[in-house]
Amino acid sequence: MDVVGPDLERYAEEHTTPHPPLLDELFRETHETLDLPQMLTGPIEGRFLQFLVWALRAERVLEIGTYSGYSALSMAGGLPEGGHIDTCELEEKHAEVARRYIERAGLSERIAVHVGPAGETIERLGGPWDFVFIDADKEGYVGYYEAVLPKLAAHGLIAADNTLRGGRVLEGDVISEFNDRVRDDPRVVSVLLTVRDGVTLIRRA
Ligand SMILES: C[S@@+](CC[C@H](N)C(=O)[O-])C[C@H]1O[C@@H](n2cnc3c(N)ncnc32)[C@H](O)[C@@H]1O
Repeated sequence: MDVVGPDLERYAEEHTTPHPPLLDELFRETHETLDLPQMLTGPIEGRFLQFLVWALRAERVLEIGTYSGYSALSMAGGLPEGGHIDTCELEEKHAEVARRYIERAGLSERIAVHVGPAGETIERLGGPWDFVFIDADKEGYVGYYEAVLPKLAAHGLIAADNTLRGGRVLEGDVISEFNDRVRDDPRVVSVLLTVRDGVTLIRRA
């Protein structure tokens, strides 16, 4: 769910640099063949993530929750030379679509898709990370946050998606616990942005 209404959301999209044709194709295939296509971040958040990666000059990016690869491919557009993305996905059927589009984009050397529970992948990969995008199972957010925070580079940033949960945070769902924990954590500084379904940016204090 978007925070702003559909008319303003469309207006914002129309005033955002359009995504490349390959991402259009990925968007369509995802909607036609995979469950829950609304999970895909889409053109506005994709560009936003790309801006963050670009502005940070992030060389090492970790994504938790690949789905069909839309956000990974968006972020790749902001990578500096030599930059690399590791992205974690539980479902092989999602990873298969992502790999296919990553290959078509000529980015197989720069984006590695790791299939399996993200917690295990994070432990295996180590760090440090310049940018981490958390966008997998919402019950796992606190665990992912605790796992990546010690491995964040000195100027690293975490972005956590869906931190408004279509308004359900007001009723105290699992993400509201994550939000409270981040706000009350003296180790970090954070801002919850009302972009799409809520994106929280977190850095070390
Ligand atoms: C919201 S979608 C990710 C959307 C993607 N970032 C994009 O913008 O297109 C969440 C993904 O996390 C995956 N997932 C769920 N639990 C997971 C886990 N424990 N480890 C890794 N991936 C997981 C789901 O299969 C799903 O593909």
